Amino acid sequence: MDKFAVLGCGVVGSGVVELFEKNKTLIEKRCGKELEMAYILDLRDFPDRPYGNKVIKSIDTILADPEVKVVAECMGGVEPAFTFVKACLEKGKSVASSNKELVAEKGDILLQTAKAHNCNFFFEASVGGAIPIIRPLHKCLAANDFTAIAGILNGTTNFILNKMIKENMDFSTALALSQEKGYAEKDPTADVEGHDACRKICILSSLAFGKHVYPASVHTKGIREVELKDVELCSKLGLAIKLIARVQRLENGHILPTVMPMAVEEDNLLSHVNGVYNAVMVRGDGIGKAMFYGRGAGKFPTASAVLGDMIEEVQLEGTNPAQMWENVHSADFIEDFSAFTAKRYIRTTAADVSILTEVFGELDDMTVSTDDDETVCIVSRPMNAAMMNAAKKQLAQKGIQLLSEYPILVS
Ligand code: HSE
Repeated sequence: MDKFAVLGCGVVGSGVVELFEKNKTLIEKRCGKELEMAYILDLRDFPDRPYGNKVIKSIDTILADPEVKVVAECMGGVEPAFTFVKACLEKGKSVASSNKELVAEKGDILLQTAKAHNCNFFFEASVGGAIPIIRPLHKCLAANDFTAIAGILNGTTNFILNKMIKENMDFSTALALSQEKGYAEKDPTADVEGHDACRKICILSSLAFGKHVYPASVHTKGIREVELKDVELCSKLGLAIKLIARVQRLENGHILPTVMPMAVEEDNLLSHVNGVYNAVMVRGDGIGKAMFYGRGAGKFPTASAVLGDMIEEVQLEGTNPAQMWENVHSADFIEDFSAFTAKRYIRTTAADVSILTEVFGELDDMTVSTDDDETVCIVSRPMNAAMMNAAKKQLAQKGIQLLSEYPILVS
């Protein structure tokens, strides 16, 4: 029999405990041995819950118990999670983490620590909630040379955008509802400002391209400025505004990770991913394209991924199958955002199409959509930041204001 411990009894931690109790028999069968939930580390007490008597206050109790072989880390944040996880790994205890901030900031160190102590650090739950994506990237798809990954990686913002579009719900009501459902982070600005999706694309980029990508190197923009007007106009042009986390490998071999609202073409499956669902599209030379889809947040979907990692860790006891990326001291393999090039949805104050063609060149398929007498929206040809700045200046000289602009994610 192995014992396990859970660090943090919030939404995900309590989900791990409850799903384990519900499916204990089949989980043990799949592990090939009995499991005992021995400790729950939390600052709070839970006297009314059936597992209240398992709550402890010090990590030392877990570190000192040699029968604890596996630890679920569901605390969130870098500290004290990093110190606790590292100490567990140094004692040879495998860790399954749902903590994307921890993996994005310290994944390289923790993977090395696990290897050095012949145990495992897994984090399937850190990206895409219930969706298997970490294992497919480093196992099933390991023969591919990856060229791009694009995904909807934040359930909260996708849920909010959907509620705004489909039910005309205002931003704050939609956010409050996503908090109630347990999707949002403790501080939901991490969701809304794109930091959560940024951490997740860092993890996928590090796995796919083999070098640690830190959040600070990623151009990140959230959904706070998305206006319903653009959502509606985009929809007339067959485009859906989504918060897209993406990494592309460019011709010079550098990678360009980004997080920002993009207008997704209807033919791209990502445009149809709604509510709390997440999806990840992976491109590689062997597979062409593969898409992964499922619930991206919430108590049991995330707990399912943590427990899946724990089961494998029990099965792997005493071995460390390679899952590594290099820790790097320079970000010179990451391209500057100024190189980002894409077709754009552009909305301006009223202007003649001939003037817009003069500024933006031939418009994509000559697409122009006019919703009223005051604004015009177009789809431009592919443009980078320098081209957009030049166009903005030209528009200003002609007395035309650029009201909004979204890069387009093609199919
Ligand atoms: N706040 C995150 C989301 C939780 O909304 O996707 C899952 O990582």
